[in-house]
Amino acid sequence: MYQANSERYMQMQYNRVGNSGLKLPALSLGLWHNFGDTDYFQNQKEIVLGAFDLGITHFDLANNYGPPAGSAEINFGRMMKEELGAYRDELIISSKAGYYMWEGPYGEWGSKKNIIASCDQSLKRVGVEYFDIFYHHRPDYETPLEETARALDLLVHQGKALYIGVSNYDAQRTLEISKIFKQLGTPFIIHQPNYNMFDRWIEDELVDVLENEGIGAIVYSPLAQGLLTNKYLHGIPEHSRASRSDSPFLNEEKVEKTLASVARLNELAESRGQTLAEMALAWNMRLKSVASVIVGASSLKQLESNVKCLGNVNFTEQELQTIEQLLKD
Ligand SMILES: NC(=O)c1ccc[n+]([C@@H]2O[C@H](COP(=O)([O-])OP(=O)(O)OC[C@H]3O[C@@H](n4cnc5c(N)ncnc54)[C@H](OP(=O)(O)O)[C@@H]3O)[C@@H](O)[C@H]2O)c1
Repeated sequence: MYQANSERYMQMQYNRVGNSGLKLPALSLGLWHNFGDTDYFQNQKEIVLGAFDLGITHFDLANNYGPPAGSAEINFGRMMKEELGAYRDELIISSKAGYYMWEGPYGEWGSKKNIIASCDQSLKRVGVEYFDIFYHHRPDYETPLEETARALDLLVHQGKALYIGVSNYDAQRTLEISKIFKQLGTPFIIHQPNYNMFDRWIEDELVDVLENEGIGAIVYSPLAQGLLTNKYLHGIPEHSRASRSDSPFLNEEKVEKTLASVARLNELAESRGQTLAEMALAWNMRLKSVASVIVGASSLKQLESNVKCLGNVNFTEQELQTIEQLLKD
């Protein structure tokens, strides 16, 4: 039987999410890739239990994570049942609805029907009574925003979600839904956007909205799916995400396009005594509204190495300028 590391809370930092009472670990673990039925369960278990041993209390899921869709929730649910059940109150488990999940007009987007049914399905797959955070996964411009907001609010009233979040919403829509949630009294505390050195769209307007509204950010794909590590410096390794046909968002072309910048960033990271992955994660943490950075991992070794970023999260003005320059070149 799994016994959690008794020193798990000594090395991790926990940051408050916006103006809420919730604290999240500076690094959270995402189960988008590597936790489906096509991946070894033993390895999944090693990563999840190893993460908890490192003080990572937050695990991020969605209805459609797999493949096949739903299998990441089922696999994580098996770990909850077999290993982690006793630690439920030490865990922040999130899931999401919004992307395609089942046939017909109710299997995706942001209607009340989709959100309520999808959350019920996810709770069953994970085998828990409530999610700590439940997200609307992507904006739906056809459904009235108030309907989506009310559906999420209902989940809180039904005791199926403690906190509410949105993901992939632009600044304007975030502000709009925030106003509705304020009227409803919904604990809307968190936004999950993508953010990394190669994709900085949130800096334009979203971070200001989040700060003004007292909402925290938890950013995803902080390593640009592995590009911001040293793994592709000498080609595309077998079994890496860029080599897998089930990961359409990362391919050889993207690796080649970023290679020159990655090599220079890698040198800067070395001069800081860090790996590039560590530096890229630390850089994401410099934004005030970022409460947590959700990292993915295909092995526990990657996670153990990435957590070391917490040893040096500060940047000199000169280093920040060098990064700006390297990203422009
Ligand atoms: N809300 C949304 O729409 C949305 C969208 C995407 C993701 N997310 C969330 O964010 C989480 C993280 O996303 P992501 O997986 O794209 O994040 P990421 O951290 O940018 O990429 C993770 C990948 O980077 C590689 N990697 C990690 N550490 C490494 C290291 N030390 N050395 C070498 N390679 C390393 C691994 O790739 P290999 O597999 O090649 O080893 C790993 O699978 C997801 O699991 C999900 O929870 C949310």
